Amino acid sequence: MFEEIERLRTEFEDRISKVSSLSEIEELRVQFLGRKGKLTALLKSIPTMPPEKRKDFGKACNRLKEEIEKRIKERLLFIKEEEKKKKLESERIDVSLPGRKLPVGSLHVVTKTLKEILRVFTSMGFSIAEGPEIETDFYNFEALNIPKGHPAREMQDTFYISEDVVLRTHTSPVQIRVMEKHQPPIQIVAPGKVYRKDADVTHTPMFHQVEGLMVDQKVTFADLKGVLELFLKEIFGPETKVRFRPSYFPFTEPSAEVDIGCVICGGKGCKVCKGTGWLEILGCGMVDPAVFKAVDINPEVYQGFAFGMGVERIAMLKYGIDDLRLFFENDLRFLRQFSGV
Ligand code: PHE
Repeated sequence: MFEEIERLRTEFEDRISKVSSLSEIEELRVQFLGRKGKLTALLKSIPTMPPEKRKDFGKACNRLKEEIEKRIKERLLFIKEEEKKKKLESERIDVSLPGRKLPVGSLHVVTKTLKEILRVFTSMGFSIAEGPEIETDFYNFEALNIPKGHPAREMQDTFYISEDVVLRTHTSPVQIRVMEKHQPPIQIVAPGKVYRKDADVTHTPMFHQVEGLMVDQKVTFADLKGVLELFLKEIFGPETKVRFRPSYFPFTEPSAEVDIGCVICGGKGCKVCKGTGWLEILGCGMVDPAVFKAVDINPEVYQGFAFGMGVERIAMLKYGIDDLRLFFENDLRFLRQFSGV
């Protein structure tokens, strides 16, 4: 019978040294000390023994029980300690590692170009005005001396919301809104989105314009030339050649279109300037007296000039972008090229 105790002790020793988790230890405890455990079974067999052996055997059993309990406690402590160490090790932070880079966004190239344009004009004393993108026929056309039946009003160019309400086709209606509210002197630029029923390689249904308007008692075409030349040299560089060509707009008289020497070929003639050496960059002119009349400003007292330009077009020429659609596709490979500009 005593061999049985020894056998249990060796078995226990053997097993406990291999135990490596809290759940395994609990399992082992139940196997030896539980109600149906191996040692419990030995203790239960005591009453069946000859009386003279019971005392010693009982003592030996209890000794083993105490030993087992002690060993389990030790092992438990050891495993807990090990687990804590492992946890600490796995949660270790190397504070000397370089940080993860957060992707930083940047302004869209159209926004950048727009900001640059506004910077140049505000530095010349222009303030910024804005108007609604949904306009009435009156502001978009009528007050700008674009009579009914003018080609610019035809359905294929204009998005109509109703017979009388349109998505503005240019920023010129802001001229009217400003002149209605303010008496001269007026010196504003008006940036914003405009809409036209047009979609191909060089046209998108929405694009951006910057309008300019200066009205006072002695504003001349020379002022217009001076302001625009200075502006274009600021944007495209001091060597930029600038040329004014007669043109026609219903709301300016006289009207002109402004060209710059081709930024691609330097004036020799290439694909971009179609061999002419010049690139059309904006429209302008002296405010037509009919426009002044529509806003109750006396054309006998005041003169003014106005101009309008496409922001995407300026961005294309400034950064050498050859497809308008790139601006609106949101391809990061394209956009990232301007993140540092
Ligand atoms: N509004 C004209 C356009 O969209 C541009 C322009 C503005 C021309 C002001 C002359 C004066 O084409």
